[in-house]
Amino acid sequence: MKETTTEILFPKAVIERRVGELAAQISRDYAGKDLLIVGILNGAFVFMADLIRALNVPCTVDFVRMASYGAGSVSSGEVLIRKDLETPVAGRDILIVEDIVDTGFTLSRLLEILRERRPASLKVCAFLDKQARRRVPFVADYVGFPIPDAFVVGYGLDYNEQFRFFPDVRVLRDIV
Ligand code: IMP
Repeated sequence: MKETTTEILFPKAVIERRVGELAAQISRDYAGKDLLIVGILNGAFVFMADLIRALNVPCTVDFVRMASYGAGSVSSGEVLIRKDLETPVAGRDILIVEDIVDTGFTLSRLLEILRERRPASLKVCAFLDKQARRRVPFVADYVGFPIPDAFVVGYGLDYNEQFRFFPDVRVLRDIV
């Protein structure tokens, strides 16, 4: 394994405050609606757990796992569902929750697939947004923090399945 170091980008208290703001906005927008929150595994589970506990509206939850075929850790245009939802989405108000938007391939493909199932509405809440890396046009409806082009870990985000447990978001750097 390569030697790495991390530097805190968003401390725990800053994340907590921002998640509270997002939850307040989402609660206002979905008042009286039939909200189904769809988390994208694995990265979104920490953010989603905090977000739903800060909502003032009832919701149900389900999860998808996406698989991307491309070189290394960079996703490609070939994105498939590896684990599908177990809940029918027709007529439901769906909010997809994702850890980070990078190239945009994953979310634009998932939106395409879910749109075909005729939900009443379909929106995306991304915890982080790396706009500079976009390869396909994609704009999330709710964003926690826009970030520069750096590789980040913690608060559910990983590097080779490591570092998800950090309570804050950190930039990962190679020592050598
Ligand atoms: P996209 O299809 O390129 O937008 O892929 C988004 C996915 O790439 C996210 O769900 C993450 O799993 C992964 N990803 C992109 N950037 C980072 C990062 O900085 N840290 C950890 N995972 C990342």
